[in-house]
Amino acid sequence: MGNRFESKVALVTGGAKGIGRTTAEAFSAEGASVVIADIDTEAGQALAETLPRATFVRTDVASMTDAERAVRTAVETYGGLDILFSNAGIVMYSLIEHVTEAHYEREMGVNFKGHVWMCKYAVPAMRQRGGGAIVCTSSVQALATQTSVAIYAASKAATLALVKAIAQDHAHENIRVNAILPASVDTPMLRNAARSFDPNDVEGVVARWGKMHPIGRVIRPQDVANLVLFLCSDEASALTGGAYLVDGGLMAKLPVVLPE
Ligand SMILES: NC(=O)c1ccc[n+]([C@@H]2O[C@H](COP(=O)([O-])OP(=O)(O)OC[C@H]3O[C@@H](n4cnc5c(N)ncnc54)[C@H](O)[C@@H]3O)[C@@H](O)[C@H]2O)c1
Repeated sequence: MGNRFESKVALVTGGAKGIGRTTAEAFSAEGASVVIADIDTEAGQALAETLPRATFVRTDVASMTDAERAVRTAVETYGGLDILFSNAGIVMYSLIEHVTEAHYEREMGVNFKGHVWMCKYAVPAMRQRGGGAIVCTSSVQALATQTSVAIYAASKAATLALVKAIAQDHAHENIRVNAILPASVDTPMLRNAARSFDPNDVEGVVARWGKMHPIGRVIRPQDVANLVLFLCSDEASALTGGAYLVDGGLMAKLPVVLPE
């Protein structure tokens, strides 16, 4: 366990479960004070109680006022904000002809607007500290998609453009902004999806999805946390405006099988 983030304050959205939870734990293990911002109060509070310096703030990232409160909580509780892992996201399956206004507003609200509001408030707080690092969670689905995820894919692609633009605007202030693009990660989101396809064989579905990745398995939340911590560390001081795959080789693969 290193101490790369001693004296740093990290805010993690979607930090109560899945990728966000593992990353919040990893920041904490390396010395950071952590603000867990999530819509799930029970899981978020329970996690905060297990970490040495952590606070939970109930946050719906689609809400501008909630985002402002999350950043203010970091500043008021720990004296500032150095790191934002803007990670909260949802997936809603639908063909385009069945997408309702409520579906569109919610999925874009959480997956895209959430990054907008979190960055809007994080940037001025980071400026006060002389710089900072932001990582936004996109997805491989920004580049190539499965079926029935039109709005999800669009929200993740929009995130890439947002990250590049904010990175340009704030590089001179020592605020770095990057995106990560995970493939299938073993989290409650993935297991819920697997359950909806085959409630009797969730393990089998996850294993089959894993086999589609050249490394032969799905991505672990810790694999993603490792990348996020690197991108937020001083070792990554030259990296901004980038998009980093954590996909076990999936995007390098064409579905071509040579005859035996
Ligand atoms: N799991 C995957 O296979 C995968 C692949 C690529 C990208 N992603 C992305 O990674 C991110 C995290 O996904 P995960 O798999 O850990 O999901 P998860 O569902 O396991 O956890 C997501 C967390 O976000 C919280 N959340 C949901 N809506 C929120 C809101 N409006 N405001 C604040 N918090 C909210 C949930 O309560 C939960 O704690 C998402 O952006 C997702 O799109 C996941």
